[in-house]
Amino acid sequence: VDTAWTNFGDLHLELPDGVGRRQGLELALRAAVQSGRLPPGTTLPASRTLARDLGLARGTVVDAYAQLVAEGYLRARAGAATTVAPGVGPAPSTAAARPMAVGPRPADLRPGDPDLGSFPRQRWLRAMRSALATAPDHALGYGDPRGDLDLRVALAAYLGRTRGVATTPDRLVVTSGFAQGLTLLLHVLRADGATRIAMEDPCLVLHRTIARREGIRVVPIPVDDDGARPDIGGDVAAAVITPAHHFPLGVTMSPQRRADWLTWARDHDRVVIEDDYDGEFRYDRQAVGALQGLDPDHVVYGGTTSKSLAPGLRLGWLALPERLVAPMVAAKSTADQRVATLNQLAFTELLRDGSFDRHLRSRRTAYRSRRDHLVQALAATTPWAQPVGIAAGLQLLLRLPEGGPTEADALEELARRDVLVGGSVVHDHHRQVPGVGGAALVVGYARPADHEYGEAIDRFVAALAGLA
Ligand SMILES: Cc1ncc(COP(=O)(O)O)c(C=O)c1O
Repeated sequence: VDTAWTNFGDLHLELPDGVGRRQGLELALRAAVQSGRLPPGTTLPASRTLARDLGLARGTVVDAYAQLVAEGYLRARAGAATTVAPGVGPAPSTAAARPMAVGPRPADLRPGDPDLGSFPRQRWLRAMRSALATAPDHALGYGDPRGDLDLRVALAAYLGRTRGVATTPDRLVVTSGFAQGLTLLLHVLRADGATRIAMEDPCLVLHRTIARREGIRVVPIPVDDDGARPDIGGDVAAAVITPAHHFPLGVTMSPQRRADWLTWARDHDRVVIEDDYDGEFRYDRQAVGALQGLDPDHVVYGGTTSKSLAPGLRLGWLALPERLVAPMVAAKSTADQRVATLNQLAFTELLRDGSFDRHLRSRRTAYRSRRDHLVQALAATTPWAQPVGIAAGLQLLLRLPEGGPTEADALEELARRDVLVGGSVVHDHHRQVPGVGGAALVVGYARPADHEYGEAIDRFVAALAGLA
């Protein structure tokens, strides 16, 4: 562990009773080094500072340091601060000491992350700088749990323009991603008596886990080529669906289905929760607008920057029907008050000056050509593996033929060849029934850096060919 950076101003020490002050200080310092609380390399405060903090004479600290230097616990060099000597303290755990296995870098095509190397660092840095230079002090306070007003104004305009979302700044809640938005919504619905919620089968397994943690039973929604089917009755509080691009099957919802969902929501007076996680990325035509725009009182729209910028930002939003705003504000407020202000301010700049639009356009071009490249490579080498779904998003579902390797065997064999992709069965509701959705791989073609992409696909396709 590199502790060279630990230059303590503060050092917590409890001097034991019943001994002299110098001896007490020596005991306390010795114990802190022996236990590993002060690891090798840690810089100790100047004797004058520590003396003042502990209410001791400076000479007492100087003497105690000198004693521990003589014993080998500390190291002192002329003109430099006193540090904890190398090699003292508890032996490092064998796990930490074991050298990392060195092998070929895996071709990493797991779904989830976009190309993180494409994050617009320079633009974000400028936006952060300008946020820090111009934000009034009060912007750094707790403020509105819904999020910064300027961001909500910019978001309402952006979502209306690009996704057909019909909302206003006061109906938007900025969240730390869709996962938090869903958690808070389910919490609010549960408090209102909900015991069951419908989710697509398959759906992102995390979302089912979140529902169960909130004490809500998940009812599966069947999915076919037209998207999720609303024939689930009214015995659920809400339905979570991915109309623009189903995860992980990749189908888009047909116009008739979209209308059917709105009918379901109105007939049963329920809400549809629209997860638009990758709605910005459609490659074969203009993206279909959000379902929410057709009935803002029955649809909650959820968006995120996790695919468009980076999941590490933890920045998303919900556009809510009026009746859910107050309980959601209360839920957000008790969860964590609000999303980190500086990120909100920086993102507002990117929305306002068109940088976010430009970033999306360039990502779209890059991901479209990556997807084309992948589909062509598969057609040329492994035509028995069938891409499913529309040209959109950041991942491709690949059906494995019946009678071929099981999904688990395929994943294991690919991993043995240092090729990582996702599976699909994990997202099915009925995992105990093998092959409910058929064996399939989920290929996250957005993940590798640009310069790694070609090789990652070559290795994937070659490894896949070896499974036949
Ligand atoms: C289906 C689906 N919804 C939503 C998200 C985004 O979640 P978050 O905004 O919490 O990062 C993901 C991310 O992988 C996803 O796959």
